[in-house]
Amino acid sequence: MFDASAFIDEAIETLKTQIDDKAIIACSGGVDSTVAAVLAQRAVGDKLHCVYVDTGFMRKGETVEIQEMFAKHGIDLVTVEAADRYFEVLEGITEPEQKRKTIGETFIRIFEDEQKTCGAKYLVQGTIAPDWIESGGGVRDTIKSHHNVGGLPEDMTLSVVEPLRELYKDEVRVLARALDIHVSERQPFPGPGLAVRTLGPLTPERVSVVRECCAIVEEEFEKAAMNGEMELPWQYYAALLPVRSVGVHGDVRAYGETIVVRAVRSMDGMSARYSEIPHSILQKVSTRITNACKGSVNRVVYDITHKPPGTIEWE
Ligand code: XMP
Repeated sequence: MFDASAFIDEAIETLKTQIDDKAIIACSGGVDSTVAAVLAQRAVGDKLHCVYVDTGFMRKGETVEIQEMFAKHGIDLVTVEAADRYFEVLEGITEPEQKRKTIGETFIRIFEDEQKTCGAKYLVQGTIAPDWIESGGGVRDTIKSHHNVGGLPEDMTLSVVEPLRELYKDEVRVLARALDIHVSERQPFPGPGLAVRTLGPLTPERVSVVRECCAIVEEEFEKAAMNGEMELPWQYYAALLPVRSVGVHGDVRAYGETIVVRAVRSMDGMSARYSEIPHSILQKVSTRITNACKGSVNRVVYDITHKPPGTIEWE
């Protein structure tokens, strides 16, 4: 049985010995980085500089929610507006590994700029066990380069501190509850954000379609779960596929892209079963998506692949 309070005490003591100078942390608003930030702040207080990078790949309303949550915990959060920079470096990149590596590297570069400003020597990260296991840690093949691992450039000048490295997602959620962190029940979200849910060219327009569709999936599934019509999946989202098909809007021929809805049951993200969602709810989602994205999305499909052989995200 995982003992959250013992882990918290031990992690704070270890962080105190690891961090003897200024440290910087990337706060994405996800449970992992938030727990890491709260632990590090408790350990070293003002030595910690918390930075939130608005990559342009965050979910609807997320930036404001994150800012409010950190304010509630009394943590100063610096927001870096980096959407333009990300879209620029990712222009023309569609290959998933190259995309992840570019995003990871840009993320670290932004941090190096911030580090120069605040003089941090350490980089605290919310890396958890599946991140490095699936990135080729140990004897396994690289499945995906996870954001916190694969993007680290070799010439990085910051020392990395990872207090959650040995934990799995369910343990991090237990920790979050113990630390009174509001995101504790929130579904996991990948480090590279909506970028890995936008297959094909990464443009602000295509990413905003994904943002809107993810919000629709979240709203409808959460509402249906509240009404007892279905069980809330462990993770649920929409991704945009660069697959165009012929459709009809009114009397007019349309030729739009495809949204895939993905929902899975899982314990820790290492393996997953696709969720059996009632058709009436899928149909509501489909209608809302095609109405909201007239002209860009023509067709909505549901993914019925377990992990393995699929992964949870499409890239
Ligand atoms: P996959 O797609 O590998 O995802 O089956 C397993 C879990 O990890 C999340 N995920 C990520 N989390 N950085 C993260 O912090 C990443 O780069 C990343 N990629 C995937 C995914 O959403 C799922 O919960």
